[in-house]
Amino acid sequence: MDITAETDRGLTGKVLHAYANIEDRRLKLIVSDLIKHLHAFVKETKVTDEEWEFAWDFMERMAEITGPERNEFILLADVMGVSQLIETLNHEEPNQPVGFALVGPFYRAGAPFRERGASTASDDTPGERVRISGRVFDFGSSTPIKGAILDTWQAATNGLYENQDENQPDYNLRGRFRADENGTFELVALMPTAYPVPTDGPVGELLRAAKRPPDRPAHIHFIVSAPGYETLVTQIFVKGDKQVEEDVVFTASKNMVGDFKKEGDHFRLAIDFPLKRGVAKMPKAPIPAEEGHRGRYH
Ligand SMILES: [Fe+2]
Repeated sequence: MDITAETDRGLTGKVLHAYANIEDRRLKLIVSDLIKHLHAFVKETKVTDEEWEFAWDFMERMAEITGPERNEFILLADVMGVSQLIETLNHEEPNQPVGFALVGPFYRAGAPFRERGASTASDDTPGERVRISGRVFDFGSSTPIKGAILDTWQAATNGLYENQDENQPDYNLRGRFRADENGTFELVALMPTAYPVPTDGPVGELLRAAKRPPDRPAHIHFIVSAPGYETLVTQIFVKGDKQVEEDVVFTASKNMVGDFKKEGDHFRLAIDFPLKRGVAKMPKAPIPAEEGHRGRYH
């Protein structure tokens, strides 16, 4: 029995009882488990008045900095490893061929469909180019998945996504591509570079306190979807990049690295996306189509 159980006036039991009438079974479980774990945390850690005041002030400051282009709550969950834990537990199986990644705060809905082989980068976007090709197929049977859709996005070499950067064209470095009848696709993207997550909010304070570098290793985001298949949300990192071990949001892993090969004046990447049978469901976009390009946040 918990040593503080006698001194909490039976509060935890009373509180759980007060929420016992929630009809939806899943909601009732979530609320009661949350109460149990929050109470256990307060008891075990012996949270002081001052610490509680700091906590609600921290949350207030997170809310103040959050808007359509920036979500400090997602960022906190990301740097605490919670977002990646949810993805891993929900989607990954042993020997997962391509890992599931957190969506991240910069996925924007409504990216334009681009022609096979087209570039997501405007001609004046600085940086090296990578030609990416591969195949989308059924993980069980290896049958090609005709018409699968790849939604891709990435940051520019200055570390900014187009919605953060008034110098990039609308939807720059974003695009949707359709696999052909053989499930194959081809596109040109920017050779990815590392960038830091925003550190001018409360999450930045936490990272500094922990002496954690705020950098995300270089990566390109992909969402691969087709009716009848579990939607694959992933990120492709660069094989051999030492930063992969120190991803600030704990996403990068061995089953998300691509072998980017130098070929003349550009790079080449061959990468396949096997999909598992299941329910196709696109993640909610933290940036709605109409909320996009507004230039840098403050
Ligand atoms: Fe990213």
